[in-house]
Amino acid sequence: MPDADALAAVAEEYYQISESILDSFPKYRLPLDLFVLDEKVAQLLTYSRKDTRLSNEQTEEIRTLCAEGNLFVSRKDHPVYSQHIVKQLDLVLVDRNLKEREVADICIRALDLRLSEFFEQPVKTLFEQLYHDVQVLTEYLWTDMHRLRLFVRRLHTGKFTLSRHCINTMSVGLWLFVYPVNENMKRKDLDQAALALLLHDVGMAKVPAFILNKTTPLKPEEKEKIPPHTVTGYKLMHKLDQSFDLMRLATLEHHERLDASGYPQHSKSISPFGRLTAVADAFSAMIQERTYAEAKEPVDAARELTDAKARFDLSCSGKILASLMNDSFGKVQ
Ligand SMILES: [Fe+2]
Ligand SMILES: [Fe+2]
Repeated sequence: MPDADALAAVAEEYYQISESILDSFPKYRLPLDLFVLDEKVAQLLTYSRKDTRLSNEQTEEIRTLCAEGNLFVSRKDHPVYSQHIVKQLDLVLVDRNLKEREVADICIRALDLRLSEFFEQPVKTLFEQLYHDVQVLTEYLWTDMHRLRLFVRRLHTGKFTLSRHCINTMSVGLWLFVYPVNENMKRKDLDQAALALLLHDVGMAKVPAFILNKTTPLKPEEKEKIPPHTVTGYKLMHKLDQSFDLMRLATLEHHERLDASGYPQHSKSISPFGRLTAVADAFSAMIQERTYAEAKEPVDAARELTDAKARFDLSCSGKILASLMNDSFGKVQ
């Protein structure tokens, strides 16, 4: 193993590459430069340049260097490296060299990719890929629940996309679900809450794209196509054998309101998880830029929801507002 001082000297600009990541790259032609550590001078020397064809001897030597902890990649190649991991997300769990914020960015990109694919074509194979990545995320959070903060600090506030809206809803919703920490919470609860929040709007996948992408106000007959997405979403997840309680409540109740002004049931009796999803969903919708509305500042959106306490659960909206005010979300980027 390399000397700790030598490692520290290069850690800002390079990271060690782990064997599992090395194994996941094409064996003879790597998409990034490799470096080896010269401990005497605490410097990295170029071992091979990206896209050059490696010999059998070199691939063997690379494996040995990697096993000894002497193989590095440049942080300048992070885009290539992270793009690679986005498609094989479980690698984030074994890579000790990525910083936590890098892992959070990679998880969000992976979920964005998997969700977009699933919304495009809501079939079992694509659901399974998404499910797998959600499991990676919850494994990562379960190890240290404070990592959730990295996700609420990365709420998307740009142009609305359904997948980024759903990721926002999941991050905020989990923040509400997890804190204050419930000692009795099981890993399965976290898995199910994450999946249910992420897929609360899955029924929108069945709403015609031209309606979702319209930049002008919807006609009455087009508006009518939106509310059924709650029931459609639940049915779709039921078909995929994912009709567990939290999924049912998230999909069916996220548009219900405490004063019965919501849909589809127009009911006042909404489950705690339905109320939580409704607040996380509304907040997430308000902070993104819509074709018909500017993005609201997160604090303003949270305040608007606390003001609307006749419709939205104040214990949830108040918690978001308090977190933003005392900066426990940190900077929302
Ligand atoms: Fe919705
Ligand atoms: Fe939503």
